[in-house]
Amino acid sequence: MRKIRSLFWVSLFLLSFSFSAALDYSVITPRESLKDGDTLSSKDHVFQLGFISLDQDEQPQHRFLGLWYKQPFAIIWIANRNNPLYGTSGYLSLSSSGDLQLFDGEHRALWSSSSSKTAKNPYLKILYTGNLVSSDGEGIVLWQSFDDLMNTILAGMKLGKNFKTQKEWSLSSWKTLKDPSIGDFTLSLDTRGLPQLILKKKGDSSYSYRLGSWNGLSFTGAPAMGRENNLFDYKFTSSEQEVNYSWTPRRQIVSRLVLNNTGKLQRFIQSKQHKWILANTAPEDECDYYSICGPYAVCGINSKNTASCSCLQGFKPKSGRKWNVSRGAGGCVHEIPTTCGKKDRFVKFPGMKLPDTSWSWYDSRNAMTLEDCKIKCSSNCSCTAYANTDIRDGGKGCLLWFSDLVDMREYSSFGQDVYIRMAFAKKDFKGREVMGMVIGSVFGILVVLVAVFVCCRKKMMKRYRGENRRKGIAEEEMDLPIFDIKTISIATDDFSYVNFLGRGGFGPVYKGKLEGGQEIAVKRLCASSGQGVEEFKNEVKLIAKLQHRNLVRLLGCCIQGEECMLIYEYMPNKSLDFFIFDENRRKELDWEKRKNIINGIARGLLYLHQDSRLRIIHRDLKAGNVLLDNLMNPKISDFGLAKSFGGDQSESSTKRVVGTYGYMPPEYAIDGHFSVKSDVFSFGVIVLEIITGKTNRGFSHPDHDLNLLGHVWKSWVEDREIEVPEEELLKDTCLVPEVLRSIHVALLCVQQKPEDRPNMASVVLMLGSDTSLPHPKQPGFFTNRNLPDISSSLSLRSQNELSITMLQGR
Ligand SMILES: *[C@@H]1O[C@H](CO)[C@@H](O)[C@H](O)[C@H]1NC(C)=O
Ligand SMILES: *[C@@H]1O[C@H](CO)[C@@H](O)[C@H](O)[C@H]1NC(C)=O
Ligand SMILES: *[C@@H]1O[C@H](CO)[C@@H](O)[C@H](O)[C@H]1NC(C)=O
Ligand SMILES: *[C@@H]1O[C@H](CO)[C@@H](O)[C@H](O)[C@H]1NC(C)=O
Repeated sequence: MRKIRSLFWVSLFLLSFSFSAALDYSVITPRESLKDGDTLSSKDHVFQLGFISLDQDEQPQHRFLGLWYKQPFAIIWIANRNNPLYGTSGYLSLSSSGDLQLFDGEHRALWSSSSSKTAKNPYLKILYTGNLVSSDGEGIVLWQSFDDLMNTILAGMKLGKNFKTQKEWSLSSWKTLKDPSIGDFTLSLDTRGLPQLILKKKGDSSYSYRLGSWNGLSFTGAPAMGRENNLFDYKFTSSEQEVNYSWTPRRQIVSRLVLNNTGKLQRFIQSKQHKWILANTAPEDECDYYSICGPYAVCGINSKNTASCSCLQGFKPKSGRKWNVSRGAGGCVHEIPTTCGKKDRFVKFPGMKLPDTSWSWYDSRNAMTLEDCKIKCSSNCSCTAYANTDIRDGGKGCLLWFSDLVDMREYSSFGQDVYIRMAFAKKDFKGREVMGMVIGSVFGILVVLVAVFVCCRKKMMKRYRGENRRKGIAEEEMDLPIFDIKTISIATDDFSYVNFLGRGGFGPVYKGKLEGGQEIAVKRLCASSGQGVEEFKNEVKLIAKLQHRNLVRLLGCCIQGEECMLIYEYMPNKSLDFFIFDENRRKELDWEKRKNIINGIARGLLYLHQDSRLRIIHRDLKAGNVLLDNLMNPKISDFGLAKSFGGDQSESSTKRVVGTYGYMPPEYAIDGHFSVKSDVFSFGVIVLEIITGKTNRGFSHPDHDLNLLGHVWKSWVEDREIEVPEEELLKDTCLVPEVLRSIHVALLCVQQKPEDRPNMASVVLMLGSDTSLPHPKQPGFFTNRNLPDISSSLSLRSQNELSITMLQGR
C-alpha cells in the first residue's frame, strides 16, 4: 500500500513538472501561446524567441519578448522595447488574423503587430535568416520582424524608404546597455536630394555623421563598408517606388551591424571560436563627424591624432587665418568670388568624400555624362558643383549641388572627383588659385607628354635597335607596347562590371582577354581617379624599367584622351590576402609554399631597393598588393605610390601620406617620413600575417587588446612564440625552427625605430642562413588604439594651415 502511494506521489510530481516545464516550439499557431519560460526556435536552433530580463541587477522583474542568437548570445530584436512586462506572467499569442499580441498577467495587451491583412490558418516561425515571420496558410507574409527594425541589421534586412507607403526602415539605438527603449541615435536614409545614409542624434538639427550617397561601390563617406571590403556584397537600389540598402555575406560569415547607444556603428563577425569579434566601427575618426570644418573646407587627421581643417585650394578662411574645429563654425569662402559670368570655370578636386547632397539634383537614370553634367551646372548660377553619381565604368550619372559644399574630406584611393565652380581671374596671376591652375594644367600636359613618350618609345626603339646591336650597345630599355583603346574595350567587354576585379591604388582593375586568348589585367587610371595622371607617369616610368620575377610584369599601356591604362599580365590566383586570410584557401599553403612566398617578396623588395638602377620605395606594400601566379610565386604589384630617387637619397618626407594602416610604420603614418625601412616594416607585418593567417589590424584576442604585432611581441617576451604560428605549420617538427626564425626576423623588421630594422639585403641573408640574430625590441604600433579602422587606406593631411590639395590639369 505504501508503495502504491509513493508511486502516486512520484507520478503526480512528474505530471506537475511536465505541466510547468518550458516548451520549445518550432511553430506557433493561434492554438498555442508562448508563455514566459517557453521559447520558439528556428529549425537549426540558431535563433530563439523568448522572454528575458535585460537588467538582472536593477530591474530583474522587467521582462522583454526578444529574439536572439543563441550561441554566441546576441539580442537582435525586441517586441516591447519601450514597454517592459512586469513579472513573469506575460505571454505571446497569435490572433486568428495573424497578429502577434503580447499580454501581461492581467491579459492586457502591451504590444501587438498590426498587419491589416486577413488570414486563414496563420502561423509564426523563425526562418534561418533570423526573420520572425507570421504567415497565412498559403505562405503569404503577414508580418515580419525584418520590417520592424531595432538597433541591429542582419544579412537580408534592409535600410530604406518606400515612397508609396511612406514606410521607413531605419535603426534606432538603445537608451543604455540595459535599457532597450528608443535611445538617442538613428541611422536612416535621407531622400531629400540624392539619397544618403545618415546618423542623427535626437535633438540635433543637423546630422551627426553622414555616411553619404551611394557611388555604385560604397557610401562616399564610409569606404570600408563598401564593396572594397571583400567579405560582403552590398546592394543599393533606388527607384521611384523605393530606395533601399542591404548586404549579404560572400562566404559563410555570420555578421551583424549594430547602432550602439553612443551612436557608433559596430560591425560584429562571428569567429570560429564562437565569439562576436568587433571588425569595424564607424564613424572612424573625428573627421567623420558632420561638417566639422564648415563649408569649402576639408578635414584631416594630424600627427596628434586630432582633426584639423584646411581650405580647399582657391578658398580662404572665412574669418581670420585660423578657426577652431567645431561643428558648422568657420569654414571657407572663395578667394575670388564667382560672378556667374561666363568666365566661371570648374576645377576638379580629386579623391573626396562627396559633399552633403541634401540640396542636390541628380539624374535618376544615371544616363548623363560628365560633360552633359558640366553644361547643366554651368547654365544655372546657383549650381556650385557637379560630379558623377556612379563611379563604376569610368563614371556616369550627374549630380549637381545648389548650396555651399559641406562635409568633405579627402581619401587616397576611395574618394571621388568633385568639380567646383570657381571664378576665373586672368589678371591676378599671383593668386594661389590661378597659379595652381596654371601649374596644374602645364603639369598635366607635361605628364601626358612624358607618358606618351614612354609608350611611343617602342617605335623609336625599333628604329634604333638594329643600329645599337651593330654597335654592341646593351639594350637596357624595354619594349612597352601600346594598346589602342578599342582592343582594350573589346578585351574587357567595354569595362563591364562582370570583369571588375577590384580597386587597386588609384583605380579600378578589370580582367580582359586579348584576341589571341591571353588574359590581362587592365588598371584604369586617369579617367576615374584622383591623382591619376601623376601616378600613371610614376607607374609607367618605373615599371617599364623594372624586371624581376617577383614583380608583376607590365605588358603595355594605353593612352587615349583622358584615359590612361596599364596592362599587366593576369594573375589567376589573385592576391596573397585572398589566400592567407581565408580559412580554407590557406590550407593550400603549407610551410614550403609560404616560405617561398616570403623569400620571393623579400627578393622582389631587395631588387626595388637596391638592385634596380633606381632606388624605389613601394610605400604601400601589403598582402593585397602581392599577387600570386599559377605556381603560387609571389609578384609585387601596384607601384602607383612608389617614389623613386636617383643616386643614394634614401629618405624623404611627404605631406601626403598614402598607404594602408596596419602596414605603415610609425614614422610614416605620423610624420610622413619614409625610407626603404618603411617597406621593411610592411614586409615584417606581411610575414607575420603569412605565418598566423591573421590580419594585423583585424587581429583580436580574448586576453588582450593588442594587434597582431603586439600579440607576437607579447608571446616572444613570454617565451611562447611557438603559439604564434598557425597549427598547420607546426605539423612537421623539423620545420619548426624555420618558422620560428621567420617570426624572429619579422620582429626585427617591425621595430619602432627605422634604424633598428635591418635592410632588405640583411633580411634576405637572415632568412636564408642559420647565423645568430639580434634581439628584437618592442615593435612600433603594437596596439590598435587611436588608429582608424581596419583595411581602410586613407590619406592624412599635414597640419599646415594652407591647403595642399593638388590641382589637376584637365
Ligand atoms: C529594394 O527596392 C527595390 C525597388 O527599388 C525592390 O525591387 C527590392 O525588392 C527592394 N529590396 C528589398 C530587399 O526589399
Ligand atoms: C559603442 O561603440 C564604440 C565603438 O566600437 C565603443 O568604443 C563603445 O564602447 C560602444 N559603447 C557601448 C556602450 O557599447
Ligand atoms: C578657439 O578656442 C580657444 C579655446 O576654446 C579660444 O581660446 C580661441 O579664442 C578660439 N579661437 C578662435 C579663432 O575662435
Ligand atoms: C537653378 O536651379 C535651382 C535649383 O534647382 C532652381 O530653383 C532655379 O529655378 C534654377 N534657375 C534657372 C535659371 O534655371
